[in-house]
Amino acid sequence: MEFKDGENAAKLLRAQSHIWNHILSYINSMSLKCVVDLGIPDIIHNYGKPMPLSKLIASLPIHSSKAGNIPRLMRVMIHSGFFSQHNITENELEVEYTLTDDSILLLKGHPFSILPFLLCSNDPILKKPWHHLSTWFKNDDLTPFETAHGMLPWDYANRDPKVNNLLNESMACDAQLIAGVFIEKCKDMLNGLESLVDVGGGTGTMARAIAKSFPRLKCTVFDLPHVVADLQGSENLEYIGGDMFKEIPPADAILLKWILHDWSDEECLKILKNCKEAIKSKGKEGKVIIIDMVIEEDKGDDKSVETQLLFDMGMMVLTTGKERSMKEWGILISSAGFSDYKISPVLGLRSVVEIYP
Ligand SMILES: C[S@@+](CC[C@H](N)C(=O)[O-])C[C@H]1O[C@@H](n2cnc3c(N)ncnc32)[C@H](O)[C@@H]1O
Repeated sequence: MEFKDGENAAKLLRAQSHIWNHILSYINSMSLKCVVDLGIPDIIHNYGKPMPLSKLIASLPIHSSKAGNIPRLMRVMIHSGFFSQHNITENELEVEYTLTDDSILLLKGHPFSILPFLLCSNDPILKKPWHHLSTWFKNDDLTPFETAHGMLPWDYANRDPKVNNLLNESMACDAQLIAGVFIEKCKDMLNGLESLVDVGGGTGTMARAIAKSFPRLKCTVFDLPHVVADLQGSENLEYIGGDMFKEIPPADAILLKWILHDWSDEECLKILKNCKEAIKSKGKEGKVIIIDMVIEEDKGDDKSVETQLLFDMGMMVLTTGKERSMKEWGILISSAGFSDYKISPVLGLRSVVEIYP
């Protein structure tokens, strides 16, 4: 067959390669899950020094007929930067593996382990809505999750303890890391405050860390009743079940970590107006602290912007929300009646946005 005008072999092969890469990208994610399911990062970590392939194979819970596939699984993960490989000079067939900076967060016992997020994102219940994305574009369902499961994720979590646990654990593992960085870099934001409500604070990882570092700050975790049921507070930490669309307990400051990206602009306006009401008694000194992404397509490096755009698609599929640009945040904040705001891009792909009444 002849090429059409403007086409040539090199262009078409480049396009084929680009499209193949996109089609197969899910394999990165599934291979990462497999590596973690097999416990490979922990096994290499516990070995304590570069681990020869033969020792790794001997330590894995696999059938002997599959041993020859382990170097192939490792090769793709090495290419992605999760392990490094060294040759052993005296035995040319044997290689050794070590962890890299990026695989540290894949360790089960690491306090900032990202495993719960990986397992949650790859769970078939959370994956199913992606098969309904184009159907959703043609119907009037709120989200592809609803098209797939007939309800919103929070309602699904309310009915299914496994999903409730997956979602809560994946949020808690993120909060663990972000709480540490937030307290280190943003402690001045909390100075002079007597009370803080972490709205949609999940099982309380973030608020617990803040309460511990600021013993005189009265912290409240406010989330849906099934999320905070049976959770125990401490001296300066309490749990309250409720609905942020109805009313938010009063405080000097409200924290909204990874909340507003779950909701549409109209829903965010309701939440922000309830926040404004909740900080009313503190006057101009009150504030709302938002932790979310601020997309700046022309600023970040390619990988960071791509990750933010992927998160935005994730929000489209699971929720009615979105990741917002600097301009969209400005419009939302002023529409909710706040007079000023300050964005601090101090949390990697996310920023801290302080908004003032
Ligand atoms: C994306 S998670 C964020 C959790 C936590 N802030 C974090 O970043 O680790 C969203 C949270 O909002 C809570 N949520 C959803 N609808 C809510 C409502 N109407 N009122 C209060 N919390 C709600 C969910 O239960 C969930 O814990």
